[in-house]
Amino acid sequence: ANADNADLKALIRTIPDFPKPGIQFRDVTTLLLDRCGFSSCVGRMAAAAPGPVDLVAGVEARGFLFAGALADRLNAGVLLIRKDGKLPGATIAEDYALEYGQDRIAMHADACAPDARVLLVDDLIATGGTARAAVRLLRKAGARVVQAQFLVDLPELGGADALRKDGVDVHALVAFE
Ligand code: PRP
Ligand code: HPA
Repeated sequence: ANADNADLKALIRTIPDFPKPGIQFRDVTTLLLDRCGFSSCVGRMAAAAPGPVDLVAGVEARGFLFAGALADRLNAGVLLIRKDGKLPGATIAEDYALEYGQDRIAMHADACAPDARVLLVDDLIATGGTARAAVRLLRKAGARVVQAQFLVDLPELGGADALRKDGVDVHALVAFE
């Protein structure tokens, strides 16, 4: 297939009952394995970016893959948003709700200049808990979150809509109802 017209949705595998019975897990590892698919994905993300970007922020772990490749295409740097406790310097953190319990993500407090234009990227948005916490974190650090991009949106879970209500420009390449 041509790198620009790969069928991204067809390259994403669905695993039933992972991690729990009843969950249809959208597995992007099969798209990552496909050189045309991955290149096409990153190219389309780059084409959808809203003008110049200083930094692409990626969310651990799968988000890092897209953030690195996209930043290279956009001539931007990469900002790591990690699970709390992994970054060595002074950090700021945000809590967010999981289905059962809570988690916390963090970034280096000095990672971005005030008003830096930051594009947030992750492989998938479901409930939006992770992405909304990432946006709060970036805004706390003084960033302008110019867009949030995802390979996959699960619209029934409402995350993209919630993120839009937070004032974020949201873009996804593929949706699974
Ligand atoms: C997945 C996915 C997003 C998040 C989406 O990450 O990569 O980051 O969940 O869910 P939400 O919209 O309901 O918050 P996961 O926590 O599985 O981490 P991983 O990439 O390290 O496997
Ligand atoms: N796939 C990958 N990550 C996820 C999913 C999914 O279906 N749901 C929540 N996080």
